[in-house]
Amino acid sequence: MNVHDQVTMCKMDYSATRPKAENPIKIMDLTLRDGHQSLFATRGRTEDMIPVAEMMDDIGFWAVEMWGGATFDTMHRFLNEDPWERIRTLKRYLKKTPFSMLLRGQNLVGYRNYADDLAKIFVERAAVNGIDVFRTFDALNDYRNFETVVPVIKANGKHFQGCICYTLTEPRMGGDVYSLDYFVQKAKDLEQMGADTICIKDMAGLIAPYDAYNLIKSLKQAVSIPIHLHTHFTSGMASMSHLKAIEAGVDIVDTCMSPYAFRTSHPAIEPLVMALLGTNRDTGFDIKKLARINEVLESEILPKYKHLLDDSKVSIIDINVLLHQTPGGMLSNLVNQLKEMDALHRIDEVYATLPKVRKDLGQIPLVTPTSQIVGIQTVNNVLFDDDKETYKMITAQVRDLCYGLYGKTAVPIDAELQKKALKGYPRGETPISCRPAQVLQPEMDKAKADVQGLAVDIDDILVYALYPTTGKRFLQWKYGKEPVPDDVKPKTLEDVKKRDDLVKKAVQGKLIEKTEKKAPEKTEHLRKFSVFVDNEYFEVGVEEIGGAPVVRYAQPMMPAQAPQPVAPAPKPLGVAAAKAEPEKKEPQPATSQIGISTLGTPLTAPMPGMIIKVLKNKGDKVQAGETLVVLEAMKMENTLPAPVGGTISEIFVKSGDAVLKGHVLCRIT
Ligand code: CO
Repeated sequence: MNVHDQVTMCKMDYSATRPKAENPIKIMDLTLRDGHQSLFATRGRTEDMIPVAEMMDDIGFWAVEMWGGATFDTMHRFLNEDPWERIRTLKRYLKKTPFSMLLRGQNLVGYRNYADDLAKIFVERAAVNGIDVFRTFDALNDYRNFETVVPVIKANGKHFQGCICYTLTEPRMGGDVYSLDYFVQKAKDLEQMGADTICIKDMAGLIAPYDAYNLIKSLKQAVSIPIHLHTHFTSGMASMSHLKAIEAGVDIVDTCMSPYAFRTSHPAIEPLVMALLGTNRDTGFDIKKLARINEVLESEILPKYKHLLDDSKVSIIDINVLLHQTPGGMLSNLVNQLKEMDALHRIDEVYATLPKVRKDLGQIPLVTPTSQIVGIQTVNNVLFDDDKETYKMITAQVRDLCYGLYGKTAVPIDAELQKKALKGYPRGETPISCRPAQVLQPEMDKAKADVQGLAVDIDDILVYALYPTTGKRFLQWKYGKEPVPDDVKPKTLEDVKKRDDLVKKAVQGKLIEKTEKKAPEKTEHLRKFSVFVDNEYFEVGVEEIGGAPVVRYAQPMMPAQAPQPVAPAPKPLGVAAAKAEPEKKEPQPATSQIGISTLGTPLTAPMPGMIIKVLKNKGDKVQAGETLVVLEAMKMENTLPAPVGGTISEIFVKSGDAVLKGHVLCRIT
């Protein structure tokens, strides 16, 4: 069959009232979830979605994705927004278009497998609050992790979209593990489970156009339910892959409104509408209506977020994805982690070691959270292994993976590594082979008891159950038990203008103007701005008095502390650089290291991080190699063994302390 057989042109009027295509491609819009998650760290606020919501409802999208993934975490943690309220609010404006969410299987909207009782009630509440399509994935493609949530989705009469995480071990589809047969088998498994649609979830933008063509063709033959392609623009191939997938008969593809498209986000809708106009796959969308939405996004919404866009790079694609087949977000995390450990010069060793670590760990797909698990273990191996010993520092998450707590890996985990990782593992040294949640104790009763008197309804309890620390803090803000800090409050266009004016002044050299009057006391209205002039960096305090902004102080900062200089000229926001990664906290030394004893052998922190647990007390006897301290770095837990045997003479840290690299944690004599 000719590759163009499925896309044909017909002579027609190209106006908005053109006749309906024979087999129109369906579109899911991702602007309100994956779009801002990819470009500005999921910081989009509900109030900034409302101005375009009704117009978007009018386009004819198959669905809009507006919840799940990182939204639940970010909203309650950084935006002081109730995640449940977003569904209910947007539902008032988008009355026709179904709502879709990204559900991480048994991980729900978090980073670990939750117990069945919590998983069931979460999905039930999502359905009741207004989610219609549950796009469900598992990082290991282990569909046993769907067994609890799928019956709840179905019982609520909702759409179960089963995902196959698309991953590669070689530059193109094929090889021993992630072959065409692998993906076809996964699709059959999903159809068997009762999936309403199947999604190829290409989170890293790895799928090449001709692989997309072959894959979609094969899937269309193997199963009878519709096929949906989700890919990211990261590597630059996504628009080409869309077109080949459409030629192969894909039913649904994902796009963003153009200001939220490209970079690590998705292809834009508008070029696709034009490309398919007048064909048998014509979207039928009115390009003028799309343009009006873009106008609002460009002028009223995106200026509030441009400070979050990473425009440190000119290139809009990430060539590393093509070179290393690893997700863009994972690579930027690796770079950050190496920087923290003063080891950025070892990045090439990390690239070279990563495929081996991934293979040892069962050749798992690289997607949240497995991309982090593989990435950080690789960094640990590069930094801490020597000729005598490999996997010297194994993270707690790798131990969980070796135990089977995430599910079944694509190929077995290296037996020697598994044995080493499970030595002294609290749940037992023999790995499990059952569905992971089967070994998890119910969680809801404890959660309910913990927030009694604070939580008002079940949705509140779920916020806490999923995110105990930040969830509880959010509930305290929500019910006025604690003041809401300024940094979680929304930015207004006025704030943006003030900042822009300051930068303009700074560039013109007019910033440091000393007032003749005696400086008044600083008040709580003081706002701090970072201003960059060439290579100089100023911290500027601004306070509004009688309506006019007054520069309160401008103090030059050490050049070493200066972040990236701001881009000299504004760029269109849709193609501005982007990076979606969590905010980093600077660790502060827990205790002064001055005056501590120098007797005996010290255990020092190999990397900056936070102390999770100290497992021994002063005076305890320890053997060399026994775990003394658990240290969290980059969201992973690392166990630190005793460097020598002996007696613990001093302990300098406690749980919750932040430590820097080289910090002495305890001494053994
Ligand atoms: Co995505």
